[in-house]
Amino acid sequence: FEGAAGYVPNDGRRTVRTLGRAVEKCRGCDLYKEATTAVFGDGPPDAAVMLVGEQPGDQEDRTGEPFVGPAGRLLDKALAEAGIDRADVYVTNAVKHFRFRRESPGGKRLHQAPTLSQMVACHPWLEAEIDVVDPRVIVALGATAGRSLMGRDFRLTQHRGEELALPGGGRVVVATTHPSAVLRAPDRDAVFAGLVDDLRVVCALAG
Ligand code: URA
Ligand code: SF4
Repeated sequence: FEGAAGYVPNDGRRTVRTLGRAVEKCRGCDLYKEATTAVFGDGPPDAAVMLVGEQPGDQEDRTGEPFVGPAGRLLDKALAEAGIDRADVYVTNAVKHFRFRRESPGGKRLHQAPTLSQMVACHPWLEAEIDVVDPRVIVALGATAGRSLMGRDFRLTQHRGEELALPGGGRVVVATTHPSAVLRAPDRDAVFAGLVDDLRVVCALAG
């Protein structure tokens, strides 16, 4: 596998729709084999804010839509508390196919974090989305998105909620906690409040 670059349309007229259709044919890494469908970004094609998660989960893989499962419901709640309408933001993931392992043969599908090489392989799709949507602020939800956008050495714990510059592009990036990490946290209310605080920073930066 050689990565997604050869599958990403790069004509001047590409749009999120043409990209979203092309991603279905991507064979840039091995993840397309076991997944049901690719999950591309969703939202206004000219959104001021782009949210980037890790990869689709079980429900996203079944529906083809990003952040529609439990993490998505928590994200919607955090956005609403920060005064952001989910309908106004473009939501996508660092990796477009679901990576999982089976609990037992034919059993429940358990999320597995994508490998660095899968993140690198899929990066051309995210780059194309950023180029086409041209957001004012990009939000990295969690460490995977943070590394995909900022580089492999990125440390979320050191930079959460800060105004960062996207390498090469000079675009504004804010990294925050992944909604799934909020769901897993023992001190869930405090971690949720931190996510909402960071989204308020995003709101201010997006104008
Ligand atoms: N977690 C993610 O990172 N992305 C989704 O789309 C759903 C869950
Ligand atoms: Fe292509 Fe990304 Fe899917 Fe891999 S995960 S096949 S690079 S779209």
